[in-house]
Amino acid sequence: MGRLKELLDSNRQWAQRMSREDPTFFSSLVAQQAPRYLWIGCSDSRVPSTQIVDLPPGEIFVHRNVANVVVHADLNCLAAIQYAVDVLKVEHIIVVGHYGCGGVQATLNGLRVGLADNWLRHVGDVMAKHDTLLDATVQERRLDVLCELNVIEQVVNVCQTTIVRDAWDRQQPVCVHGWIYALTDGCVRELGMEIDSFDRLAESYQSALQAIGQRAAGENVCLPPKADEIVLTPPATSCCGGRHD
Ligand code: CO
Repeated sequence: MGRLKELLDSNRQWAQRMSREDPTFFSSLVAQQAPRYLWIGCSDSRVPSTQIVDLPPGEIFVHRNVANVVVHADLNCLAAIQYAVDVLKVEHIIVVGHYGCGGVQATLNGLRVGLADNWLRHVGDVMAKHDTLLDATVQERRLDVLCELNVIEQVVNVCQTTIVRDAWDRQQPVCVHGWIYALTDGCVRELGMEIDSFDRLAESYQSALQAIGQRAAGENVCLPPKADEIVLTPPATSCCGGRHD
């Protein structure tokens, strides 16, 4: 075990390449951080925020944890949200789950992984809340469905924070989104939650939940792709890419 030479070498090459392509790249980043997006995602190494939406450093403020959970009293996540909203004034908060999430899978299968079981208990709460829907879902789709449910529940938790509610109360524009990423094709799907005021939360949640239920039941319910400015890498063919066919 020595120095991580391969990573350090790679870093030097990257820094030189970036400077070559844009001589002002680092100096402009030093001067200011002005991201428009807060990304709340899973720690999974296969879901790197800026790379997935093809943005350079400086564009996304990021908080990641196991299974992209937003816990009401998690000071770490709350601090990230508070700094992003109050100081950086991000316009969008995106909760990004992903299909095939190991944390969600461990919860679904009742696997013990250690201390993380206590953290994943929050995903267990999502599972218990939606046990009727999950019981009615065929076995092979249950993980996908729980991954989607986990995203929309965490979106609700973001919207319930005093930080976001206070921002809305003072008319600060903040929109909270629920996305899910597919490791299989690299595409993000929207889950039908784009919430820009507390009044819209209940209705948006219900319609997203209904769409998940319909897809779980095998109906071909595609969420219509939107010409939304923040969907930077829309799926090339359809919103489902054949997933829900
Ligand atoms: Co994950």
